[in-house]
Amino acid sequence: MHHLCIAIDGPAGAGKSTVAKEVARRLGIVYVDTGAMYRAVAWLALRHGVSPADEQGLIRLLRQHELRFERNGHGMFDVYVDGANITSELRTPEVSAAVSQLSAHPEIRRILTEWQRSFSRSQSVVMDGRDIGTVVMPDAPVKIYLTADIRERARRRADELAAKGFSVSVEELLHSLRERDERDTSRACAPLRRPDDAICIDSTDMTVDEVVERILSIVRQVHHG
Ligand code: DC
Repeated sequence: MHHLCIAIDGPAGAGKSTVAKEVARRLGIVYVDTGAMYRAVAWLALRHGVSPADEQGLIRLLRQHELRFERNGHGMFDVYVDGANITSELRTPEVSAAVSQLSAHPEIRRILTEWQRSFSRSQSVVMDGRDIGTVVMPDAPVKIYLTADIRERARRRADELAAKGFSVSVEELLHSLRERDERDTSRACAPLRRPDDAICIDSTDMTVDEVVERILSIVRQVHHG
């Protein structure tokens, strides 16, 4: 298979990372979790008491610390800060609350977009996020826009957090998802929107397997078509 890039965008909690990881595994290619990169910056900000509103302070943090992204043996996307693996600390409610404010800063986006593009230049990738098909990989031959009903997304996030030992109510998650969707779609720089040439998949009534199969069949069509 020649160099293949698959872009998956959509709102928070639509199942992008679960699906993207599995698609990458099935195709034997690399998965790049761009949300984890923004989350890593939020993690650093919380740890060092820098406000997510302070763009210059955030840029300084990025200069002072070494961020590294690595694919582990299970095909997952691991994040290291100054040599320590912080992947399991990236999906907490605190990080989620800080991240979408911070991801509105153009200079932060420029730096992270560069990192993201460096992954796709030399190898096949499945990359998920908010602006992958529109900004990061506008030439990707396969673009998916993955959505789901907001109630279903809140329910899935609650289950995901419960599995990690965090108890957060569906109502609370519904509220924070709404806020995050609103901020991600209304920011001036690279907002979340469906790329014109993306195929939309609504996963509300679909299993993970069904979504993965659907994407693989789209990949096969594009690849053989
Ligand atoms: O997909 P996620 O929930 O891990 O993303 C976390 C936040 O990062 C999300 O609220 C918006 C931001 N983000 C972004 O602005 N652009 C991306 N390509 C990926 C994530």
